[in-house]
Amino acid sequence: MSKILYSLKSLKALIKKENPSSACLITSGVLYEKLAWAIAKELALKNLKVILISDGEEAKKWSALENLLLNFTKQNLDRDSLVLALGGGSVGDLVGFACSVYLRGIKYIQIPTTLLAQVDSAHGGKTGINFSNFKNQIGSFYLPEATIIDERFIKTLSPHQITDGLGEIIKAGFIKDTTILDLLKKETVASIPNSPNLKKIIKKSIEVKDYFIKNDLKDKSIRQILNVGHTLGHAIELKYKMSHGLSVLYGILLELEMSEKNKLTKKGTKEEFFRILESLDIKLSDRFVPDTEKVLHDKKISGDSLIWPIIVKTGQAKLFKIRTKDFLKLAK
Ligand SMILES: NC(=O)c1ccc[n+]([C@@H]2O[C@H](COP(=O)([O-])OP(=O)(O)OC[C@H]3O[C@@H](n4cnc5c(N)ncnc54)[C@H](O)[C@@H]3O)[C@@H](O)[C@H]2O)c1
Ligand SMILES: [Zn+2]
Repeated sequence: MSKILYSLKSLKALIKKENPSSACLITSGVLYEKLAWAIAKELALKNLKVILISDGEEAKKWSALENLLLNFTKQNLDRDSLVLALGGGSVGDLVGFACSVYLRGIKYIQIPTTLLAQVDSAHGGKTGINFSNFKNQIGSFYLPEATIIDERFIKTLSPHQITDGLGEIIKAGFIKDTTILDLLKKETVASIPNSPNLKKIIKKSIEVKDYFIKNDLKDKSIRQILNVGHTLGHAIELKYKMSHGLSVLYGILLELEMSEKNKLTKKGTKEEFFRILESLDIKLSDRFVPDTEKVLHDKKISGDSLIWPIIVKTGQAKLFKIRTKDFLKLAK
């Protein structure tokens, strides 16, 4: 696994140690302005090259990849260059993928700036872009040299973006580490950016992700537990163009309803999930219903069955192999 450093202040020393032929910062135009404090202070490196790209899902288009690779060439990046990816999951996904294919791979550092990217997308080496109307259809497993987490970035996020990150944090609590849930019980969406426990919450969530990926980087077995809530969550994300973390919360809720009703999950787990949401001030509506048939297009399907990661009880999850037609029946 790559190094994780918990302050942007460590970046300069890290770059000195890496001693690259050149360093290149890649971020979006919007973030270049919003995060000027970080760029002017912690990223003020001599001869730093800068490439500005699009933000959000625009960044994950084929044309954005082509543009970025063209800029790598224009800026004369070579095999000893070091790229710094500053932004949310979309910037990280595109930049990581571009670095994995440019000159057969150049070094990069992830500097995630959203809560979702800090606890989830910047770890585990999954990079990629969207293609032919499918999300993350083209990509690679390519680990950064290091990931730098700095909770000061969280302060400029909207409540919606905080909720999004909380989707993956709550999941981490329910699949492995219940102490995360204990910490969350003291918070609300509004209190998170200034919480004295924010660093601890982020760190514990990263440790959960690390636990599941360290022996299964290529997502063949145990890593799939991280997909709890994603089976139906992805269907919701696709249908309503909903953000990722919020879709995961809907996915966990719907999947808990299914698994608890069918005695695959300990009774009361769904209630516990609701209690956490309520104390955080997150309200889910019941108007979002997934097209379960869409689940069939999900990449987790193999043959006529699918691996469905389920929460067994608060703090424990397992992989459950189920025939697709039985899954669809349960989902009705
Ligand atoms: N690679 C993985 O393992 C993985 C895992 C989960 C999600 N993802 C991907 O991550 C992407 C979503 O990432 P995201 O939720 O981080 O959103 P994002 O990268 O799309 O960014 C959303 C918005 O947040 C803004 N933003 C970023 N940092 C900010 C800050 N500090 N202050 C204010 N605004 C800020 C951006 O300008 C942008 O408008 C999706 O494409 C998803 O597929 C990847
Ligand atoms: Zn996710």
